[in-house]
Amino acid sequence: MPRIILLGAPGSGKGTQAVKLVEKLGIPQISTGDMLREARKNGTEMGKLASTYMDGGSLVPDEVVIGIVKERLGMKDLEKGFILDGFPRTIPQAMALDKVLEDLNIKLDHVVEIDVPFSMIVPRITGRRSCPECKRPFHISFLKPTVENHCDDCKVELIQRSDDTEEAVTQRLEAYQKQTKPLVEYYSEQKILRRVDGDGELEEVFSKIINILS
Ligand code: AP5
Repeated sequence: MPRIILLGAPGSGKGTQAVKLVEKLGIPQISTGDMLREARKNGTEMGKLASTYMDGGSLVPDEVVIGIVKERLGMKDLEKGFILDGFPRTIPQAMALDKVLEDLNIKLDHVVEIDVPFSMIVPRITGRRSCPECKRPFHISFLKPTVENHCDDCKVELIQRSDDTEEAVTQRLEAYQKQTKPLVEYYSEQKILRRVDGDGELEEVFSKIINILS
């Protein structure tokens, strides 16, 4: 019953690897980015608030994100494990997660940091296209769909995220460095952090992650 956190900068491949882990392990992916985008699409107050932060590349306030994750972690389909993608992203979020897990009487098994040099991130992010239905990420050069600009599974037209611009990426990388990177030390101290070199072929990175989990 693996309970996994995928940690890494924007564009490091968390979402891509999470989709593959879902297929392999049969456990759900919890992506706070997808949940916030869904709330925005549905026009909820929380979605509107989140939008103002997301489009500029800043982090959404902790209390908002912690609230949605707390609610999700209490759901029944997570009994066999889960993959947290994009959460936690700050020390207060990590501490809140520890508390929720303690209350549920469960423990994290692995925190996998996918490490990619910042110089590779901009082309990865500006070339990303995502499925609006299943959220699966593709890339115009590195991970082309079988039919141009259409999801392999849902067959619908792919979209480009509004925060996948060069300006927003610069801000997102800054936020990562300042607010999220300290989690590496936080989880190293808990002795559950493992680092994977994410600068390689998708399958190669996936094999390295599977090796860590097994
Ligand atoms: P979120 O949606 O979580 O975005 P992110 O963390 O910035 O990460 P990305 O989705 O951009 O990258 P990824 O690592 O998943 O990369 P991917 O696999 O797609 O968050 C968006 C916003 O929501 C945040 O900025 C913030 O405002 C808010 N938010 C979310 N969670 C929050 C939280 N906890 N607290 C506060 N605010 C929060 O890969 C990228 C591209 O590269 C793809 O096209 C892919 O095909 C390609 N690729 C992947 N791997 C490889 C490879 N090995 N080789 C070549 N290409 C590759």
